[in-house]
Amino acid sequence: MKIGTPKEIFEGENRVAMTPASAKDLQKLGYECIIETGAGAGAGFSDQAYKDAGVEVAKTAAALYKAADIVAKVRPPSDAEVKKLREGQTLISFFYPAQNKELMEAANAKGATVIAMDMVPRISRAQKMDALSSMANIAGYRAVIEAGNNFGRFFTGQVTAAGKVPPAKVLVVGAGVAGLAAIGTATSLGAITYAFDVRPEVAEQVESMGAEFVFLDFEEEQQDGSATGGYAAVSSPEFAAAQLAKFREIAPDMDIVITTALIPGRDAPELWTKDMVEAMKPGSVIIDLAAERGGNCKLTVKDEKIVTDNGVIIVGYTDFPSRMAAQSSTLYATNIRHMMTDLTPEKDGTPNHNMEDDVIRGATATHKGEITFPPPPPKVAAIAAAPKKEKPKELTAEEKRANEVAAFQKETKTQVGLLAIGAALILGIGLIPGMPASFMQHFIVFVLSVFIGFQVIWNVAHSLHTPLMAVTNAISSIIILGALIQIGSSNALITILAALGIFMAAVNIFGGFLVTRRMLAMFQKS
Ligand code: NAI
Repeated sequence: MKIGTPKEIFEGENRVAMTPASAKDLQKLGYECIIETGAGAGAGFSDQAYKDAGVEVAKTAAALYKAADIVAKVRPPSDAEVKKLREGQTLISFFYPAQNKELMEAANAKGATVIAMDMVPRISRAQKMDALSSMANIAGYRAVIEAGNNFGRFFTGQVTAAGKVPPAKVLVVGAGVAGLAAIGTATSLGAITYAFDVRPEVAEQVESMGAEFVFLDFEEEQQDGSATGGYAAVSSPEFAAAQLAKFREIAPDMDIVITTALIPGRDAPELWTKDMVEAMKPGSVIIDLAAERGGNCKLTVKDEKIVTDNGVIIVGYTDFPSRMAAQSSTLYATNIRHMMTDLTPEKDGTPNHNMEDDVIRGATATHKGEITFPPPPPKVAAIAAAPKKEKPKELTAEEKRANEVAAFQKETKTQVGLLAIGAALILGIGLIPGMPASFMQHFIVFVLSVFIGFQVIWNVAHSLHTPLMAVTNAISSIIILGALIQIGSSNALITILAALGIFMAAVNIFGGFLVTRRMLAMFQKS
């Protein structure tokens, strides 16, 4: 069958749903590929590059729609594009079926199958097809670059002969995919980064990326994403008020604010109010990624950059991924290719639309003349869904002390038990007739080192095990002593071997410490 990609007709859209590289992969699945002339130009892919990848180039959109059995594109189709669909044809694109009911009905009336890339469920297996995440990742990155472009200072602090420059302070509101990408970019540029999200489970992620999570002084059953497919639920009015109070407190201190807060299917919550903008310093920048759904900032104007009376720049662009079209097309085309891989298990160039498959079912909006949207919830839990923890009961000081003593006693008992078993074992081995004394000596040292090694590693956080291994590697090179003792030997062969040993162990020592230093630096806040 033929899979074809038309040129995007939405004004200013530079992305393309098929790249020469993805076309090669699609051909391996047994498909022939076809593209409309100039479709890749905005993303830097020439017709010739497609031809070289074995893709047929169609002269017009009409010719492409006629030839293709599967049409893959980026933006939801226009009315005119839907009219070009025909019975049995499959359309794969962003579709937003909840917001585009009429479009969905029109496509269904044509007898076409619609696979909405925005409906791919957020489950682990589907991550490779999650086009919303790929695009949000790019938007988060680009938001920081855009902020830097509009901000008149460095991100990182510097001490120069011409004076001291303080680092920029960046606040990211909403630590989902776009938010985390923004946090990663801002911290890597050297800014002091703060982040807030209504889902407390992301605090650890935020902190592991070198940013500081803004906690509220608020007692509420914290949200967990399990009931909502990994997305946030609506906050209570009291929580929202506490959140705004916190933002109001920190607003004057922030240089750059990047807002990404959104709950799918709802308008963006208003989180950065007019008075917060007024409290910010002139030259500060707000990038509102939620501009498409009304914006998180009260003053955002969709698709525009404005400067407020007090000199705050507010950017409400909704086309960040299109502004990095080469990158976003590559990722989107890969998402499409993975979707096609799942649709073509036999690799025979014919899709097998398996409605029992969670991902295919979730993304299908219309199929075989039926509207299949909304899909049932996926059988597998969403990625972000953490097991719900019972809120611990408040304990009195005495109860806490009693618990600590009990835990200590339990641990001591276990350790004494283990030592007793070890001692009995050694005694048993020692009683075996004919066991040499030297063996027993080495054996006891061995058992004790296993015990001490275990105790040391057990008390180190999991995330630090790799640097620990590196430093252990360096320490194990104590064997260099053996080589040092031997190097003065009168036998030339022994001297050469000892010199070689010293060299190798030295590489291990210096390399080990160097790697440890680098790894630990990754965990340190600058
Ligand atoms: P996501 O669902 O992964 O993240 C949204 C985050 O906001 C979640 O972590 C959620 O817990 C949080 N959130 C919800 N309500 C909140 C509140 N009241 N306060 C604080 N945090 C709250 O979404 P994703 O994929 O990261 O997208 C983020 C935004 O970026 C969306 O609005 C999306 O439409 C937009 N976007 C914009 C683009 C552009 O070019 N402007 C391109 C791609 C995405």
